[in-house]
Amino acid sequence: MATDVIIACDFPNAGETLAFLDRFAEEKPFVKIGMELFYAEGPAIVRAIKARGHKIFLDLKLHDIPNTVEKAMASLSALDVDMVNLHAAGTRAMMEAALRGLTRPDGTRPLLLAVTQLTSTDEAAMREELLIDRPLDKVVLSYARNAAAAGLDGVVCSPLEAGKVHKACGPAFLTVTPGVRFADGDKGDQKRVTTPARARELGSDYIVVGRPITKAEDPAAAYRRCVRDFLG
Ligand code: C5P
Repeated sequence: MATDVIIACDFPNAGETLAFLDRFAEEKPFVKIGMELFYAEGPAIVRAIKARGHKIFLDLKLHDIPNTVEKAMASLSALDVDMVNLHAAGTRAMMEAALRGLTRPDGTRPLLLAVTQLTSTDEAAMREELLIDRPLDKVVLSYARNAAAAGLDGVVCSPLEAGKVHKACGPAFLTVTPGVRFADGDKGDQKRVTTPARARELGSDYIVVGRPITKAEDPAAAYRRCVRDFLG
């Protein structure tokens, strides 16, 4: 069910990020912080954005041995973010360890999502480099089922996969979907895109939108248009 629009804050430093967020006078959008910004600025940028009242999806895509991921997730849970993620390829044992690490002493925790196969990996690369010879959509669904079995809250996937994921893992299992563009907008390097309204129809729970908002002349207006189209 369409829940919220998350803005991908793909900026290289704190200055540009905070200047961008200053342009939202009336609302406090849910924002995504990725590796570029986090590795440049560290936990301080997370605290600064949280202190301004935004919800945060910390998109660091963890993938390591279960013990290391459990400890890393414990560090992230202290940052008071709302959503974090990891690679489902790390196995169920790693995902279960991540959940343990993420859960705070009071029982609360951020939502935990799994990345299935990156959209930059195609079937040829899976077959020839990773020696996975099943069709891509089967692999994505199998990874999603593993994530659900491990107790995760959902997956990051294409809006075009959201329906299948819900069918396989249940309606409450979240689909967080990038690859969203306005019908009259520039696609950039995204190939298979959908509009916010179409993402809602396809069953996305959250859409992640970067450049259509960050590069807009009036980002707050573009954000509002996205929210209107997605939430209906
Ligand atoms: O600017 P744009 O709307 O394309 O940004 C989409 C965001 O979602 C970026 O931060 C990108 O890294 C991320 N993402 C994606 N496709 C995936 C996973 C994440 O575009 N499969």
